[in-house]
Amino acid sequence: DHGVVETDVLIVGSGPSGSAAALFLSELGVSTILITKYRWTANTPRAHITNQRSMEVFRDLGIEEQVLAEATPHEMIGDTVFCTAIAGEEIGRIRTWGTRPDREADYQLASPCLTVDIPQTYLEPILLRNATIRGTQTRFSTEYLRHTQDDDGVTVEVRDRLTGLEYRIRARYLIGADGARSRIAEDIGLPFTGQMDIAGSMNITFRADIAPLVDHRPSVLYWVIAPGSNVGGIGTGLVRMVRPWDEWLIVWGYDISGPPPELDDDMARGIIRDLLGVPDLEPEITGYSLWGVNEMYATDLQRGRVFCVGDAVHRHPPSNGLGSNTSVQDSYNLAWKIAAVLDGHAGPSLLDSYTAERAPVAERIVTRANRSAREFSDLFEALGVVGLEGEEMAAAIAERKDPTPEGAAKRAALLKAMDTKNYEFNAHGVELGQFYSSGAIVSDGTAPVPQSGREDADLFHVMCTSPGAHLPHAWVGDNTRRMAMMDLAPYSRWTLITGLTGGAWADAATAVAGELGVPLEAVVIGPGCAVTDLYYDWAKLREVDESGAILVRPDKHIAWRSHDLPDDPTAALSSAMRTVLGRD
Ligand code: FDA
Repeated sequence: DHGVVETDVLIVGSGPSGSAAALFLSELGVSTILITKYRWTANTPRAHITNQRSMEVFRDLGIEEQVLAEATPHEMIGDTVFCTAIAGEEIGRIRTWGTRPDREADYQLASPCLTVDIPQTYLEPILLRNATIRGTQTRFSTEYLRHTQDDDGVTVEVRDRLTGLEYRIRARYLIGADGARSRIAEDIGLPFTGQMDIAGSMNITFRADIAPLVDHRPSVLYWVIAPGSNVGGIGTGLVRMVRPWDEWLIVWGYDISGPPPELDDDMARGIIRDLLGVPDLEPEITGYSLWGVNEMYATDLQRGRVFCVGDAVHRHPPSNGLGSNTSVQDSYNLAWKIAAVLDGHAGPSLLDSYTAERAPVAERIVTRANRSAREFSDLFEALGVVGLEGEEMAAAIAERKDPTPEGAAKRAALLKAMDTKNYEFNAHGVELGQFYSSGAIVSDGTAPVPQSGREDADLFHVMCTSPGAHLPHAWVGDNTRRMAMMDLAPYSRWTLITGLTGGAWADAATAVAGELGVPLEAVVIGPGCAVTDLYYDWAKLREVDESGAILVRPDKHIAWRSHDLPDDPTAALSSAMRTVLGRD
C-alpha cells in the first residue's frame, strides 16, 4: 500500500513513559516508531524525583551512569524544610527520600540504587537518545490524529507538523503515551474514576543563586507556609530546586472556583520574593504556567491492540514524586510482554496482565499523591492558621515559640503533623511495594508478611519471594565483582534462580527454553559457582529451600516458585511457564 509506513509498535509521546517504552522495545529488538507532537522533549523541568525502582530500570538497561551523571545526587536531596519563607523562620525539617539513617538502611537493603533528582528536561533526552541509538525511529513534530484497529493491527493517521503532510502508520500494536490529556485513552474509551482540575496551581521557573540560604540544609523541596499558601495547589507553597542552587521552580496555588489569575512578570516576581523572603531579589524569570491538580485513574488500560501508559492513565499532583516513576514502570511492565507476543513465545492473553497488574498501581498512586497533598492541612491545623491571613497568620505561627502551655500544645501538635509527612516523603512501600496478581503470575496463595511494628504498607516495603512480588535485593558475586540480585535477571530473558542442590533446575531451564522457544536461563547461587551468596543475605531472603527455584520475569517480578526440587523439575517449570505465557 503506497504511503503506509509499517512497524511492529507505534508509540505516541516522548515523555517518560513513551521514551522508556521505546528504549525497552528497541532493547528487545522490536521494530518501533515513536512520534511526538513537538520539536523536542519536555521544555519545563516537571517531574524530578527518581526513585529506586526507576533507577533499577535504568541500571538494567545500562543507562544508570548516564542518569547519575546528570542528576543531583542522593545525599543532596533530602534535608526537606518547612518554613515561613526560605530566608524566614523554620517550622521544622524532615529527612526525606530515605536519607534519615534508620530509613536509609531500609532503602539501601531494598535496592542497589538510591533515589536521586533528575528533572524531566534532563531525563527524557537520555531515554530518547538511547532508544534511538538502539533502533527506535523517532519522529518529532508529528501528531497523532486518529486510529482504527482490526484483528491484525492498528492503522494510525498522523500529521507532519512541518509540512502539514498526513500519512498512515500501520503497526501491530499502538502505545498511547500521550499524557494527561490523552487523545488515545479517549479514542478507545478507557473508563476513568475521579476528577480532573480539582485545584488550581501555577509553576514559576526562575534563576537566582541562593546558595547561602540553602546549601547548609540541602534539599530538593522547601515548603513555605505563608498567607495564601493553603489555597489550591499541592498542599502549601513549594520552592523546588531544579539545579543546585541557582535554578528553581515555585508551585503556588490559586482558587480554581474563581477566574484564573492573570500571571505576568510582576506577579511572578512578587510570588518569588515572598516565598524566598528576599524582598529585593531580582530573579531571572524563565517561565510560568497554570495547571490543574487531578485525581483520576483508568480502571482498564487497554483495548485490543491499543495500550495506554503513564499520565494517560494516572493523573495526580506531584506529591510523593510518583508521576514519571510510575510512567517508566508502566512501560517496563508492558514492553517485554508485547515483545514476547510478537516473537510468538507468548500467547496474546499475556497482554491482559498489563491492566491486571498496573491498574491497581494507578489507583494506589493517584490516591496516595492526593492524600499527601491534603495532609498538609494537619500542619495548618497544628499551627492554628486555618482561615487566617496576613498578620494574624504570622502571629499564630509565632505562637509555637511561646513558653506557655498553649505554645507547648502547638509544639506537640506540630510533632504529630510533621510525622504525617513521612507518607509523602518516605513512603517506601508505595515506591517499591508493587505486588502483582494476574494471569502472568502463578500464585501460591502467599503474600508479603510485614514485620511487627512495620505493618504500614505505605511506609514500609516488605521483600519476599511470593509469586507476584519483586525479586528481593541482595549483593552477590565472586571475588572479582559485586552484583545485585537484579543483575542476574536481565530484561532480555527469564531467569530461574536456584542453589547448589537445585542444580537439576539448570537442565530443566535449558529443556523448557528449547521446548517453548523462550529466552530462559538458570543461575545457580552457591560457593564455587559463578555467583556466590557473599553475605549469606540471599539465603535468608529466598524463602525456599536451597534446592527450590524462583522464576523471575524480565521485569523482575516473581512469576512462580518451587520450594524444593520435585521429581520432574522440567515438567514443573514447563507447566508454570506455559501458564504465565498463555501457552496452555
Ligand atoms: P507526558 O505528559 O510527559 O508526555 C506526553 C507526550 O505525548 C509528550 O511528548 C507530548 O508531546 C506527546 N503528545 C501528546 N499528544 C500528542 C499527539 N496528539 N500526538 C503526538 N504526541 C502527543 N510530576 C512530578 O512528579 N513532579 C512535578 O513537579 C511535576 N511537574 C509538572 C509540571 C507540568 C507543567 C506538567 C505538565 C507535569 C508535571 N508533572 C510533575 C507530571 C509529570 O510530568 C508526568 O507525570 C510525566 O511527565 C508523565 O509522563 P508521560 O510520558 O506519561 O506523559
